[in-house]
Amino acid sequence: MSDQDTAAGTPAPSGPLGYGDRVQLTGPKGRLNTITLVPEGEFHSHRGVIAHADLVGLPDASVVSNSSGEEYLVLRPLLSDFVMSMPRGAAIVYPKDAAQILSLADIFPGARVVEAGVGSGALSLHLLRGIGEQGELFSFERRDEFADVARANVAAFSGSVPENWTLTVGDLQDTLPATCPAGSVDRVVLDMLAPWECVDVAAEALQPGGVLICYVATVTQLSRTAEQIRRSGQFTHPQSSETMVRGWHVEGLAVRPDHRMVAHTGFLITARRLAPNTVVPSLKRRASKSEFSDADLANWLPDLAEGASSDEVWTPEVVGERQKSEKVLRKKVREARNFASERRADTPDTDTQN
Ligand SMILES: C[S@@+](CC[C@H](N)C(=O)[O-])C[C@H]1O[C@@H](n2cnc3c(N)ncnc32)[C@H](O)[C@@H]1O
Repeated sequence: MSDQDTAAGTPAPSGPLGYGDRVQLTGPKGRLNTITLVPEGEFHSHRGVIAHADLVGLPDASVVSNSSGEEYLVLRPLLSDFVMSMPRGAAIVYPKDAAQILSLADIFPGARVVEAGVGSGALSLHLLRGIGEQGELFSFERRDEFADVARANVAAFSGSVPENWTLTVGDLQDTLPATCPAGSVDRVVLDMLAPWECVDVAAEALQPGGVLICYVATVTQLSRTAEQIRRSGQFTHPQSSETMVRGWHVEGLAVRPDHRMVAHTGFLITARRLAPNTVVPSLKRRASKSEFSDADLANWLPDLAEGASSDEVWTPEVVGERQKSEKVLRKKVREARNFASERRADTPDTDTQN
């Protein structure tokens, strides 16, 4: 990359550091500061100053000294670092789960993928990376403000809104059929309060063999989603899992698990779209006495019973989701846009496109 390219300010994934790049500085006490390199910018700590201009042109992973000689390690954040530090409207999918989603959903370069909801855009960034430039990502989000935050975050990471990314504002169940013709999609990824409401539209959009994957936070959502997938008769048996990652402290003879870990984020449920008019062999069996009946299931999941309205039962609050106020959300949209423009990302000024 030439000096001129770095001066243009488009964040680069590798090569020498340039204006517009976000970098992490790790100081003598191991404290991490993340900054965006801008012309005339300076990083100040208690003990000294580093001019941003001094970092431009250095290889990634260099060590620089501040004005009082203290050394700092300079690193471009990885995608996982970026998503953990970007502005959030809604709770994000953590990197450990995003990695599992890419694998379990078999996201491949060139894939046509549907995703809902978009929230803060963390999973969108992982999916865009997985499908590459030849793939297409169709993302759906019901709330304008979240879509705005996600668009700014994706632009901040990529330098502009990627051409192979379509972000539609609206409920997936209402907007998917008009956006993706039946049988045209390879993968559907759902991260939302009530994925069971979208099982039928997902089945319609997917081609036979395509993968549906749902990420949910609670056991009650897990059960409700699995039962709906099973009942739809359009998928293979759903497989469920959770992913726990325990970090280790490995230094000299002190080799042990970390004292703290993120114990719970969510569950993943996957199923494959069946070919039309296909019934999974085990579903053809008659239920044995030990198997459950519809009435048993309705005791556990009352809103699954005929005529029940699921809206009354399932709200973000009842599953323990913390909701941000309108005022906080507007602040998050501003933060995300400032974050994107600090990086000189090319984001549309207009609010959400439909
Ligand atoms: C937890 S957030 C998604 C976070 C996102 N995956 C990320 O990694 O940043 C869930 C989002 O789903 C949206 N949502 C819920 N139901 C939806 C539906 N039926 N259609 C579209 N979006 C929906 C909510 O507004 C919310 O923004």
